[in-house]
Amino acid sequence: MSNDYSQQRFETRCVHAGVEKDETFNSCITPIYPTSTFRFEALGKTKGYDYTRSGNPTRRALEESLASLEGGIDCRATCTGMAAITATMHLFKPGDHIIAGHDIYGGTFRLFFSPFTDYGLTFSFVNMQDISNIRQALTRRTKCVWIETPSNPLLNLVDIKAVVEVARSAGATTIADNTFMSPYCQRPFEFGVDIIVHSTTKYLNGHSDVVGGAVITRHREQAERVGYIVNALGLGCSPFDAWLVLRGVKTLGPRMEAHQRGALALARMLDEHPKVERVYYPGLADHPQHELAKRQMTGFGGMLSFDVKGGRAEAEKVMTATRLFAMAESLGGVESLMEHPETMSHASMTSEARRAAGITEKTLRVSVGIEHPDDLIADLRRALE
Ligand SMILES: Cc1ncc(COP(=O)(O)O)c(C=O)c1O
Repeated sequence: MSNDYSQQRFETRCVHAGVEKDETFNSCITPIYPTSTFRFEALGKTKGYDYTRSGNPTRRALEESLASLEGGIDCRATCTGMAAITATMHLFKPGDHIIAGHDIYGGTFRLFFSPFTDYGLTFSFVNMQDISNIRQALTRRTKCVWIETPSNPLLNLVDIKAVVEVARSAGATTIADNTFMSPYCQRPFEFGVDIIVHSTTKYLNGHSDVVGGAVITRHREQAERVGYIVNALGLGCSPFDAWLVLRGVKTLGPRMEAHQRGALALARMLDEHPKVERVYYPGLADHPQHELAKRQMTGFGGMLSFDVKGGRAEAEKVMTATRLFAMAESLGGVESLMEHPETMSHASMTSEARRAAGITEKTLRVSVGIEHPDDLIADLRRALE
């Protein structure tokens, strides 16, 4: 990472970090370098790049930007969020033990369950809201504690600082999936986390037109190892995808403000609605971990879930009756989405694991877009009624 952006505020870094890369024509926007290979000037002499799997200037610009936003020393941008998680799992060896939350993203759960269990890693999935569960799950072979907060879809929080303390005492690395919050609302490095992963598909890109991921590191040795793994496994993202994410990142601050304005307004409406049994949003004062949210987050984000009174049929009716909320998986785009975790985002978990995590047939998850909150409220109210 070349430039020092540390003196700039977050929104300024979103616009400028990693961007001014064109010394040939001084374009204000980072060019896309859609080349697989780079010409050598002499044997052993390049201008810094030789082959795009190993490195590409557009991808590097994005990596510089994301490292700066999270406060890390390095980043590797990958072709999906799952590729980023896959890269981090290769830091461990057969026999190593990893502790993760019982309510992590279903795709991460599936990846840990198989293939990584088949490759000899062992996992314990515990309720991380209670730190003593992590202490109890520790073994001599525990090498990593995996943090996802708030959890998906029920927005349970994990006390990042407390988890880091327990993991450190056991000599385990902490890895946080910060996809749900984005670095605008939560910066896990500030609480001592070692590695951060993202699905850039979500808020960082923000426009639902690319899938991507990132691994951000803050220790030199891990940075080098992750760089090696991403190259060796061929996990890096394409220059075009990197360019799209870099473009999206520029508006991260104003987008997150709009997402959370809408989410809070919707959550308040749902909280009082007679057809709604329960609302899950850390920005509500009656969320059981609201105080922790205020302590470790700089915003409450744009994700919320709610249980519809009745069962699956009632939940389905609400979903199909809305006009502004597309029935779709994923999250973090400018448009609002609604989905049914039981049969969509969390279908890759076993039904026992879903029940243990508190996901029911009547739970709906909403990714609140940046539309005007009044329109979103009117649409959802109409769908409920
Ligand atoms: C929290 C979280 N992490 C990781 C992923 C995986 O990202 P991708 O779909 O880009 O592979 C997702 C996808 O929904 C997610 O929600």
